[in-house]
Amino acid sequence: MTAPRDRRFDEATYAGKLPASVRAEVLRDLQGTPRTLPPKLFYDARGAQLFEEICELDEYYLTRSELTILRERVDEIAALIGPQAVLVEYGSGAGVKVRMLLDALEAPAAYVPIDISTTQLASVSYELGHQYPGLAIHPIGADFTAPLKLPPLPSTGRRVAFFPGSTIGNFHPAEAAAFLGRVRRTLGANGAMVLGVDRRKDPARLEAAYDDARGVTAAFNLNMLARLNRDMGADFDLTAFRHRAPWNDEASRIEMHLESLRNQTVHIDGTTIRFARGETIWTESSYKYDAERLETVVTSAGFELSRLWSDANDDFWLTYLEVSARG
Ligand code: AVI
Repeated sequence: MTAPRDRRFDEATYAGKLPASVRAEVLRDLQGTPRTLPPKLFYDARGAQLFEEICELDEYYLTRSELTILRERVDEIAALIGPQAVLVEYGSGAGVKVRMLLDALEAPAAYVPIDISTTQLASVSYELGHQYPGLAIHPIGADFTAPLKLPPLPSTGRRVAFFPGSTIGNFHPAEAAAFLGRVRRTLGANGAMVLGVDRRKDPARLEAAYDDARGVTAAFNLNMLARLNRDMGADFDLTAFRHRAPWNDEASRIEMHLESLRNQTVHIDGTTIRFARGETIWTESSYKYDAERLETVVTSAGFELSRLWSDANDDFWLTYLEVSARG
């Protein structure tokens, strides 16, 4: 998608499509060193749909592995959680995994899905309301990476945070600990968390998972530029950038970048940005954990790693964390 040429028209048309704070964040990040963009921008309606397609890809083992573990362990997890639980899901998406958990739980009292993609949040909340008539549903359309306040919730059973998909990997480890610490404080002394974590493995498999043969992940990454063209009147030429997903072994992460294929100039929100050929915009990190790294993050956030389940290939972990007595 290309932006109209008349810049005054741009301002009138696009102002307000993203909150002023996000527009300022985009301009600051694009002009930083290194150039970056916040991953939350992936999830407009098209991005949310592309992410669903990624989850089905042969190369993207994460979703399948986690679903296998969840299917095998869901009754054990439900027994640990106990009756009348209040479930808070961070980044609820299409709500596939939470249905499995809700089906296994004994009389869950309330469900709080939190997601930045409000269109999907509304439709999934509506469907769940029909499927689970006794369940109080409190959707929150928000960026869960920022501090947020939960609505008043029943104090029936245990309060449990559900954070599957290894989205924890999209935080820098120090930010992951800070995020888990905020979650822990909302749960109370008896709280628990069900957390999905992707494991370190052969770099070739990791790079394939983030640069698939059909180009779905490339489309997902480039969609961020299409979104800035639409929502901030930018004039990114989508054919002049390419998707890259290298493994950084020292940092233990996949890095997603958009690489400029030539020297070029981009206009966005009244600002001109010059890209040299080969320069990249860093759009996402996906950290992969080993036991030591996981233990460090979890305990520094005030949780205890109470259970850890793996799939047959040892690709992925589903964990059950309990609020630590020392926390
Ligand atoms: C949401 N998150 C866990 C995904 C991941 O694997 O880091 C996002 C993603 N990016 C590219 N493919 C999937």
